[in-house]
Amino acid sequence: MNTPKRYTITAALPYTNGPIHIGHLAGVYVPADIFARYQRLQGNDVAYISGSDEHGVPITIKAKKEGITPQQVVDKYHQIIKQSFIDFGISFDNYSRTSAPIHHETASAFFKKLYENGKFVEETNQQLYDAEANQFLADRFVIGTCPKCGFEESYGDQCENCGTSHNATDLINPKSAITGNTPTMKETTHWFLPLNDYEAFLKEWILVGHKNDWKPNVYGQVKSWIDDGLRPRAVTRDLDWGIPVPVKGGEGKVLYVWFDAPIGYISATKEWAKAQGKDWEPYWKDESTELLHFIGKDNIVFHCIIFPSMLKAEGSYILPQNVPANEFLNLEGNKISTSKNWAVWLHEYLEDFPGKQDVLRYALTANAPETKDNDFTWKDFQARNNNELVAIFGNFINRVVVLTHKYYDGIVPEPGTFNEVDEDTLILLKRYPKIIGKSIERFRFREALTEMMNLARLGNKYLADEEPWKKIKEDPDRVRTIMFVALQIATGLSVLSEPFLPFSASKLKGMLNLNGHDELNWNALKTAETLIAPNHRINEACLLFAKIEDSEIQIQLDKLQASKKANELANQKIAPQKEIIAFDDFSKLDIRIGTILEASKIAKTKKLLKLRVDIGEEVRTIVSGIAESFSPPEIIGKQVTVLINLAPRTIKGVESQGMILMVDTPEGKLTFVEPERPVDNGQKIS
Ligand code: 2FM
Ligand code: ZN
Repeated sequence: MNTPKRYTITAALPYTNGPIHIGHLAGVYVPADIFARYQRLQGNDVAYISGSDEHGVPITIKAKKEGITPQQVVDKYHQIIKQSFIDFGISFDNYSRTSAPIHHETASAFFKKLYENGKFVEETNQQLYDAEANQFLADRFVIGTCPKCGFEESYGDQCENCGTSHNATDLINPKSAITGNTPTMKETTHWFLPLNDYEAFLKEWILVGHKNDWKPNVYGQVKSWIDDGLRPRAVTRDLDWGIPVPVKGGEGKVLYVWFDAPIGYISATKEWAKAQGKDWEPYWKDESTELLHFIGKDNIVFHCIIFPSMLKAEGSYILPQNVPANEFLNLEGNKISTSKNWAVWLHEYLEDFPGKQDVLRYALTANAPETKDNDFTWKDFQARNNNELVAIFGNFINRVVVLTHKYYDGIVPEPGTFNEVDEDTLILLKRYPKIIGKSIERFRFREALTEMMNLARLGNKYLADEEPWKKIKEDPDRVRTIMFVALQIATGLSVLSEPFLPFSASKLKGMLNLNGHDELNWNALKTAETLIAPNHRINEACLLFAKIEDSEIQIQLDKLQASKKANELANQKIAPQKEIIAFDDFSKLDIRIGTILEASKIAKTKKLLKLRVDIGEEVRTIVSGIAESFSPPEIIGKQVTVLINLAPRTIKGVESQGMILMVDTPEGKLTFVEPERPVDNGQKIS
């Protein structure tokens, strides 16, 4: 047994301004979880760390929108996020939050140390300011054109289009995201981390040291920023939501969210170690520890340039060994968007597909955006389940377990002599831990998953070729050997599928009656002659994967369709104002309240109703184009608004003596303009 290695595995702290969706899962949490589970199965010492990112402008904006406090926003989403991760089987050792006191202390102390060691540059200069909102405009409070790529909706600290991080004052044509105003300038003092001083270190560490082992997308982005030249970055903000700046002159200011958030990995490790009675420091300070940051591509600059420079400035920390950032996952051809509700939300998925965590884990891994943006479609999800999990993995396991019960009452048979096919199959089985492991260690999770499924395919093919069901009568000895070999493959799968399909692996172990057999770890599979011994009793078969029907998929597609519709409606433009009229023109209109007494359809028309409307002194006949929005009986007795001095017109042979005023709703259904409470007919509107 090799000496266990220590791994500190971090998964980006999600902003607590909304729930988790499949983009987060595919980009960060599922790959990190596969990696963490794999390392634990290797017998390594793993701290898999994450938590809620509870500071920053997105939280403040959400709170303003919902009319609640930022604390209420983070409390709400922290619970939803944390619970959905637990239910989905993300095996964090600790999922903390940046509002935790231990984090405030850790981040404050980190800042103080850098401050006291003269690592910051203090500068007083002009910053963007929104006088109406009484707010300095940094980060997501300001939108403008990216100086690097020309994207017109770049944020103050980062462009979501090209990933570049910049200062708010670099934006071309900035606008306040709060009021839409063009900002003015106002003087303020901040502390800057002079990234330019770290250029040489970053070049040596990444551009030379990690040229070959970092993913090309990560390396390429980092190289381009370093080549462009780095500049000092402010690490404090004029905001009232965040960690107070703990030094003289910092009153009323807070730490920049991207200064405190990555320190959250350290605080979460401390919190976990304390609860476990362990020392946290080796996980962050021992050179033999492998530190890995799992993130999405929009976080690369912060994890490869800013945070490492902070760690370097502090001086006592190790640096990440790798930052395996993923690209983005789209949904049914469109960018996932929280604000447009174009997403598959984890907590909703868990409700709609109870017990099917592994199906989503599988579909997201099989289609992971490892080297380029990818698309999630519900049809692909269904096909992955029905054609792969059910038809290959589930089918193989079911055959093995059912036949073992049918032929041997659930007792693993003693094998006879192995023939060449058996031997080759058992040799291949022994190779899989290494093949799958290598891919995982290189962060190629799609490839690793394919190999794991190849082992299930191997099992299926072995049974299909050997046909024990045809030989059981005339050659029972041969069948004992076949079933023994098949049971070894099933056992191998119960270990090797665990990082990808933890719920199914555990069910499978239960079926094979192997719970508690800790000797069955990843490495043991490489050498052990027998994984499941003759005479061992297995349990009854249970269903690992069930077919997903078209109707279940249609419900999800309908949900997305409804979001699309709602967005289209929300985006419908308000009609521009008509040309200005004089008061005299307006006062010529005689608008009164009336009550509909009678209503009937006008023959051979779709839209027209003939109404009799009491307008006080008299009852008028009015032809109104509302038949597609209302049936006659439902409008009798309704009070409506009537323009009574419109010149009479004959429509379809009926003289119309006025006009009912209607509201045109975005859904296309007309509604009446009604008084708030019943009033006398003939009352004037002015
Ligand atoms: O992009 C995000 O959602 C950030 N909240 C990620 C933070 S990662 C870390 F540094 F904390
Ligand atoms: Zn840009």
